[in-house]
Amino acid sequence: MLLKPVKTCMKQILPFLFTCLLLQLKAQTNLITNIGARKITSLNGKWQYIIDPYETGFYDYRYQERQEKDRDAYWNTDIPQNKTDKKEHGYNNKYILTVPGDWNSQDSKFIYYEGTVWYKKSFDFVKSKSSDRVFIYFGAVNYRADVYLNGKKLGMHKGGFTPFNFEIPDSVLKAKDNFLVVKVDNKRSKDEVPTVNTDWWNYGGITRDVLLAEVPQNFIKDYFIQLKKSSPLNNPEAEGWVKLNNAQSGSVEIDIPELKIKKIFPVTDSIVNISFNVTNAQLWSPENPKLYQVKLTTASETITDKIGFRTIEAAGKQVLLNGKPIFMRGISIHEEIPMDVRRAYSRQDALWILGKAKSLNCNMVRLAHYPHDETMTRLADSLGILVWSEIPVYWTIDFTSKAVFEKARTQLSEMITRDHNRASVIIWSVGNETPVNETRTAFMHNLISAARELDATRLISAALETNYSELEKTHLINDPLGKYVDLVSFNEYLGWYGGLPSNATNATWKTIYDKPLFISETGAEALSGFHADSLTRWSEEYQAWYYREQVAMFKKMPENFVGISPWILLDFRSPRRNNPVYQQGWNNKGLLDHQGKPKKAFNILKKYYADKKMNEK
Ligand code: GCU
Repeated sequence: MLLKPVKTCMKQILPFLFTCLLLQLKAQTNLITNIGARKITSLNGKWQYIIDPYETGFYDYRYQERQEKDRDAYWNTDIPQNKTDKKEHGYNNKYILTVPGDWNSQDSKFIYYEGTVWYKKSFDFVKSKSSDRVFIYFGAVNYRADVYLNGKKLGMHKGGFTPFNFEIPDSVLKAKDNFLVVKVDNKRSKDEVPTVNTDWWNYGGITRDVLLAEVPQNFIKDYFIQLKKSSPLNNPEAEGWVKLNNAQSGSVEIDIPELKIKKIFPVTDSIVNISFNVTNAQLWSPENPKLYQVKLTTASETITDKIGFRTIEAAGKQVLLNGKPIFMRGISIHEEIPMDVRRAYSRQDALWILGKAKSLNCNMVRLAHYPHDETMTRLADSLGILVWSEIPVYWTIDFTSKAVFEKARTQLSEMITRDHNRASVIIWSVGNETPVNETRTAFMHNLISAARELDATRLISAALETNYSELEKTHLINDPLGKYVDLVSFNEYLGWYGGLPSNATNATWKTIYDKPLFISETGAEALSGFHADSLTRWSEEYQAWYYREQVAMFKKMPENFVGISPWILLDFRSPRRNNPVYQQGWNNKGLLDHQGKPKKAFNILKKYYADKKMNEK
């Protein structure tokens, strides 16, 4: 039992310790952004695989990590040297997985599999220019990826939903028959992010694109071009920086042909700060999702992007988009195509999902609980849908661990680096429903500080848990983390996880923070096609009653109420949902069912949003 003074002292120094940790940890990603604008070669398609639950290809029989040249390591050739040579592993066309794509949905033996699968792809490759540098880029691999080429380890990445790349040295790359092997391990673990308990399916595999990218010796690694947060809207000012892979001489030219802007900035360091007026720009908004072609040119390359210019800020009780208050007609979304029971990853998938959100009259989506594929945020840019993007600091990760903090911070940095030029992304969320205690609040506060350090232009939030009781009428949001966010967001299920939908009728919500208030989750389950009276749990009628009562409650929310992202657009797979009649391994809180068909509640929210949209005019 700590003596009281010691305990008090610990309480005071803990946040300081975390801040020191934060300042030490500069999780610099080596991510090459806007990969689609580079000289790319796709390695998508058929890969051979070996299922390896005991990680025999990685550890020897004494459970020691195999040495690089170990003949039995699964990253080394599987071809016997002669007829007497013994090989106990091999890649064969009988065992094929398609990349990108989770393994669970590709073969029934993988549905519940959690462990290691080795992927192998052979490819020929000749650089377009001998002086080019070559990187291998992964859109995402869940959860850990160890990447080998021709028996050499290129690198290891952890984190199931963010991109990463490794350089391929000339000494490793061959013109013919490159032997590319990726060890993918999706085992859950207490000290990872997320931890062992989540309410979503642990889809494993190389779930997004695999590309070879060629860049010049000196190349543009990353750039950040956004309107200044306090930019005067009659003469908007863009600012940011261009990050070169190493300090070069010469200059960086920023060219926006449609606005007749061409600015040249001298290169004095590997980071070139830029700022320029975009006086005649049409500001990006859901009503007018205007994107401009932006060209960045250095002595060795030109890359282009499509960027929208807008400002977003939390001012008093409001969220201002381009200086005007907005109400976010949102919906939460998992990255899943329910008809195929698989991870979404393609532009076609994104079009289908965001099309459903549009049909609900949404102007915003909460991409839960992890960064979705880049196609989603780029499509949101063109369709004019506001985005809440989040790292999977979910429920009960180990908040006492510095290593876990670094993992969370790395994923935060990768999420922000990939999408910090997307006008649609207005909110970075550092987590969901984390349990309130001192250590967690210090951990999350430091993640918020890290997010601000990485991007001072967007709102920072987190989905806070609230202790609401159906016995109370007034509910207070007073999570200490609310002190550090721009948008006070909370999840409530009044009428599903507590009481009946009628408890929402007279419910009122208040927060101790003088900030905009957002309901990041609310919802009820319904088995599509199950009809009964509204008091019957799991019926569409119960869910519809829930939404009617919630909508009535939304209409009485306080003046700082700025929007909602109900849980959830589509039914989704979850290992936690095991009612043998009404769930069968699915969380059925979707307003759309496993086939994308609307349940009764869909039209209740759709009408509420239509009315809100009408009033905005
Ligand atoms: C929680 C959590 C979700 C979960 C939902 C539910 O709020 O954030 O991930 O799926 O509630 O219970 O359905």
